[in-house]
This record gives sequence, structure tokens and C-alpha cells, in this order.
Amino acid sequence: MVKVPQLRQSLLDWYTAAGRTLPWRKTQDPYAIWISEVMLQQTQVKTVIPYYERWLDWFPAIAPLAAADQQQVLKAWQGLGYYARARNLHRAAQLITAQHNGIFPTDLAVVTTLPGIGRTTAGGILSAAFNQAVPILDGNVKRVLARLIALPVPPHKALNVLWQHSTQLLDPQRPRDFNQALMDLGATICTPKNPSCGSCPWQMHCQAYNLNKQSEIPMTESRTATPHKSIGVAVIWNEHGQILIDRRRQEGLLGGLWEFPGAK
Ligand code: ADE
Repeated sequence: MVKVPQLRQSLLDWYTAAGRTLPWRKTQDPYAIWISEVMLQQTQVKTVIPYYERWLDWFPAIAPLAAADQQQVLKAWQGLGYYARARNLHRAAQLITAQHNGIFPTDLAVVTTLPGIGRTTAGGILSAAFNQAVPILDGNVKRVLARLIALPVPPHKALNVLWQHSTQLLDPQRPRDFNQALMDLGATICTPKNPSCGSCPWQMHCQAYNLNKQSEIPMTESRTATPHKSIGVAVIWNEHGQILIDRRRQEGLLGGLWEFPGAK
């Protein structure tokens, strides 16, 4: 891509002036950063902050997390939802204890083998903790890059292209700040609706802006209509007052659950 040096510099200057102060930016402890990245996978920053701080009081390092029982771990997560994230953190802490001497790995290929850590979470951790030049591509970054290049298809259809752009743009001198800046740009300026293009450091380079297509990009897949099915059910009882119920097949929707007998 042309203009890479200008894009890097203008984003980093903007971040110095307007970046957010967030608790996980005050540390370079890979454990604390890992916790923040996993909490932020499906939860907003302002919701995450109190959970993050309480979690670190309860489990300040890998060893106490690995040694905790699962009920305690789920309790600390209670309210954040998507509980698989907490179970994966716990299992990963136990794996790091057993296989990596309790030290968070620094190798991208190793980090992505840990449960609950995909490519973008690994990039977020390794760049923030070790200043490694590893790219990220979370939802905010997909939107920023899709607009920057006026991506003509929905982002999920062009993941390779978007990863390539995230990789090429990443500043090899300041990967930590660059990735944090990119996330802040998506969260505060290049928002899904009514982006603040007037304050954007990339305005003049942004192809969506130059085509006045900020509100159309990123493109979304037109949703297939929710299927609507009419289902008749029967409530059938015998002289003993017993009611006939039926169990769904294990495979498929609501598998293994019970229902009144019926048909579409
Ligand atoms: N979302 C995911 N990672 C983040 C981070 N480090 N800062 C802000 N938002 C994020």
C-alpha cells in the first residue's frame, strides 16, 4: 500500500494526543494483558474494567489461577457471559503451568495453541506485552481497514486481504502503540454509525471517506429472513392423568430436550 509511513505516523501522533488511558495499558505483564484481551473479546471496555481489576485481585498471576477450582473461576467471571472464556483461561493457565514452567509463551505459534486464544487475541497480547510486531484484526480493526481501502465485500469474505493490510501497516518500530491506536481509532472515531471523520487522522487517505461511502462500508451481508414455521402440538393424557411427551433426537436444534408430540 502507498502512504504506509504517513499512515503510521499520523495514527501514532493521534494516539499520543487522544489515545485512551486504560488499566491494561499501564502494565507489560503478559498475564494481565491476556486476561484483558480475553475479557474484551465479547465485552465492551467500560464493562470490562471493574471485572479486570477484581480478577487480578483474586488471581494475580498464572499460578493462582491454575490452582483455583473451577467454581471460583466461574464466580469471578459471573456477569460477563460467554463462560467458555473463563473455562479456557483456567485450562490455559494449567497448561502453561504444566508445559511452559508457568511462564507465558512468547512465540505466536505456541500462544495460538492455548485454548481461547485465536490469532487476533495472540497479536493483541504479544504486541502489548512484548512489543512484538504481530498484527491484530478484531471487529473494530476490520471496520477501520475496510473503510480505509473501501472494501467492496463484507469483511468476513476478505479476511486474507484485511490481515495483509493489518500486517503491512503495523509499525515495526512501535507495534505496541500502533495496535492500541488502531483499536482506539475504531472504538472512538471510526465507529459503526456516524463516524467522526472530521477528527480522523486517516481522513485524507480513507477511500470510503473520499467516495462518501462511510455509511455503506463495511458492507453487511443481507440477513436471510428468519424462518417461520407453523407447528401443531397435541397435549394427550390418559385416565391416570399422565401426559405424553416426546424427546427430540440428540442431533440438531434443541437436541435431547423434551416436547409435546407434534409436527410442522
Ligand atoms: N479491545 C480488544 N483489545 C483491546 C485493547 N487492548 N484496548 C482497547 N480495546 C480493546
